[in-house]
Amino acid sequence: MYHLVCVHCGATYPADEIIYNCKKCGHLLAVKYPLDEITVKRSTWDTRPLSVWRYKELLPVHIEPVSLHEGGTPLYHLKRLGDEMGLKYLYAKHEGMNPSGSFKDRGMTVGVSMAIQLKKKSVACASTGNTSASLAVYAAKAGIPAIVLLPAGHVAVGKIAQALMHGAKVISIRGNFDRALEMVHELCLTHGLYLLNSINPYRLEGQKTIGFEAVDQLGCVPDRFVLPVGNAGNISAVYKGLLELEALGFIDRLPKMTGIQAAGSSPVVRAIKGNFPEVVPDQNPETLASAIRIGAPVNAEKALVAIRKTGGTAESVTDEEILAMQRDLARKEGIGVEPASAASVAGIRKLAEMGAIDRDEKIVCVVTGHLLKDPETVIKQCEPPIEIDADLPSLLSALHL
Ligand code: F0G
Repeated sequence: MYHLVCVHCGATYPADEIIYNCKKCGHLLAVKYPLDEITVKRSTWDTRPLSVWRYKELLPVHIEPVSLHEGGTPLYHLKRLGDEMGLKYLYAKHEGMNPSGSFKDRGMTVGVSMAIQLKKKSVACASTGNTSASLAVYAAKAGIPAIVLLPAGHVAVGKIAQALMHGAKVISIRGNFDRALEMVHELCLTHGLYLLNSINPYRLEGQKTIGFEAVDQLGCVPDRFVLPVGNAGNISAVYKGLLELEALGFIDRLPKMTGIQAAGSSPVVRAIKGNFPEVVPDQNPETLASAIRIGAPVNAEKALVAIRKTGGTAESVTDEEILAMQRDLARKEGIGVEPASAASVAGIRKLAEMGAIDRDEKIVCVVTGHLLKDPETVIKQCEPPIEIDADLPSLLSALHL
């Protein structure tokens, strides 16, 4: 049986205690398994379909999970973009191919299952969009109500559409994501809703399976794992999972964990470059990649450890660099992602240009959400369709034929 442990002071809590921060020091919690009692073999995992639940021995859920077949996302070799950058082994793991179109579904299948396991009656989160869409989907599947808090005016339309259509109670606050998270945290503590932001250690358990799948698909540990960073939960989750695989003797080294942030919202990058012990929040984060428009990443403490312990790095990219990579992925690789997702590959392009990475590295970039999440940002970058009269001469003329 697993338990919860504070990543800062080491205090432990029982697995069924509803708790999001250490009661002694206020820091983050993580799920700790008795790894020496886990007897599963890699060959057993290999017999199961690629998905979050392939790895159930390293997940906290003991009931029938609330599942919509999440995970099992494709790992694409970026041949053309890799050639351009001089990187032979550049890969993208397309998390936009999950049920609600982002990696959050990995967290929510586990998080909402835990809500049921812990006998909670309702769930809530703050979100820049994807978390709310995913929570709405999984709460619908579970048949329980969901409340989501969004920063008004800063959430892509596809994500709001999902949260509304799947039946969540959607509240837009006149404030940013960081404030929305403070508010929903307070709401959950005072009114008994189950909080499913990434400070919930169980949600991150689902997300760590991105790393497990990438290792299985590649047939080895990549040299570098690159993720866009907002709240810094995902990069922390992948690192934790790979540490567990190492402890089980399934892998013998770790990839360099590399976090990419938008230039207008980059407290983790500043902390890594400045060698600060902790992040200094951005009071007014700004980026067109609204998914990662976060000034005070709640999982920063875990993420700094992940990056530092693996000899990784953090880099920022401008909105122009993000959009250029969104177009390149779409047009040169056929991979449609939302702006925040393109940040990971844009970051690698920047690091390659700076000569900061070895050209022979096997690099897995996580592209986190689907193109259709944010159609407005797409349309703004493209020429509009050419409207013509419904006759052949007009068609030929429009095609310059
Ligand atoms: N990419 C996308 C598409 C996201 O939606 C997010 C986070 C991230 C990257 C960053 O992941 O926070 O774990 O570092 N979106 C959250 C949300 C904040 O509310 O949907 P992170």
